[in-house]
Amino acid sequence: MHVSSFKTAHRLITGQQALHELPSQASKLGMQKPLLVTDRGVRESGALDLVTPRMKDLDYAIYDRVPPEPEIEIVEECTQVFRHGGHDGLIAVGGGSAMDIAKSVSVYARHNNTLETLFGEDKVESSRVPLIALPTTAGTGSEVTNIAILADNQQGTKRGIVSDDLLPDVALVAPEMTLSCPRSVTAASGVDALVHAIEAYLSNFASPLTDALALKAMTLIVRALPKAFANPNNLAAREDMATGSLMAGLAFGNAGVGAVHALAYPLGGRYHLAHGVSNALLLPHVMAWNKLACVERFQDIAHAFGEPCQGLSATQIADNVIDRLHRLCRDVEIPTQLRTFDIPESALPELAEAASKVERLLRNNPRVLSRDDIEQIYRAAY
Ligand SMILES: NC(=O)c1ccc[n+]([C@@H]2O[C@H](COP(=O)([O-])OP(=O)(O)OC[C@H]3O[C@@H](n4cnc5c(N)ncnc54)[C@H](O)[C@@H]3O)[C@@H](O)[C@H]2O)c1
Ligand SMILES: [Fe+2]
Repeated sequence: MHVSSFKTAHRLITGQQALHELPSQASKLGMQKPLLVTDRGVRESGALDLVTPRMKDLDYAIYDRVPPEPEIEIVEECTQVFRHGGHDGLIAVGGGSAMDIAKSVSVYARHNNTLETLFGEDKVESSRVPLIALPTTAGTGSEVTNIAILADNQQGTKRGIVSDDLLPDVALVAPEMTLSCPRSVTAASGVDALVHAIEAYLSNFASPLTDALALKAMTLIVRALPKAFANPNNLAAREDMATGSLMAGLAFGNAGVGAVHALAYPLGGRYHLAHGVSNALLLPHVMAWNKLACVERFQDIAHAFGEPCQGLSATQIADNVIDRLHRLCRDVEIPTQLRTFDIPESALPELAEAASKVERLLRNNPRVLSRDDIEQIYRAAY
């Protein structure tokens, strides 16, 4: 076994009513004039109204111009607002998009060089701004990961700033924040969380710690996602999703994700598919590919899913897991074919070329993929 270290946000506060803790946490971090980073969807849904009454004693301002799957330029704009407003902290209220913008601003605001110099691994040098993350989706797990993912429209892909300085001071995970999520967002972000757990479990860099988190996350998510989708007001299902997503975030934040995410990046970057949707489209096909490399790990996944295993061969069990993933995506009404999204078949070689360069994630994947293998997977998903 290789050496592994475990990192997370400095403090995790979870559960219904966790929002009560916001004022004291902001004050502990010395925030008097924070910038609240969010998006219009979260604001208009009423989710933000659960937060702002708790900030009465703070001289805060709101930046709500984060779009879904935000591009690099939004970091520049939000940083200008932060600097000109004389703010002393950041509070992200949103899904992965708002959290990743706030995380990026937290390391860029005091950086004495261009934003471009922060991309890649461990490029942050200056101190970062105090940061609290409140997820409103379940979710990306971004509240506990050391990465911010941004769309690069020029290169037609997604790129990451990776640094432990991005880990928030506080992750405040309150399930009631997700009650207003539209069904499509519940479905896409929920499948994203499931992919985080599965890819972390199958990762070449998994450890006993990340395994425990990943397996429990899978159990919670496969049970709760159909319920949260079927009845958005089911708070118990929302809570299980919030916990599952957090645990999956802790798992992949340390073990990494693999080929599903690597192949999803160019779909998000070029065709602006929602991150969870592109993951869902690829998940069963990448798992069918991975099966050969780690068939016994699929048995553990089957147990976590509650799939019957007795009397079945390892291969049959793995196939049942893959069927279950297909069914789950269909149940939560995520389209299952790339062709549904106006992506021409002739674009697949170019997509494969782009995905084959996402070496940072492909190295985590249990089975090696060549450019041609990647193209075959896109074809299977087409
Ligand atoms: N940093 C990481 O570790 C990490 C991990 C996975 C994904 N990501 C990134 O996160 C982004 C996707 O994040 P996401 O899936 O959470 O979606 P999102 O933040 O893009 O939000 C999707 C939509 O849902 C709406 N929404 C969110 N919460 C809501 C609520 N409670 N009520 C009503 N509407 C709500 C938003 O307004 C938005 O329109 C992508 O850019 C992806 O690359 C980051
Ligand atoms: Fe993801």
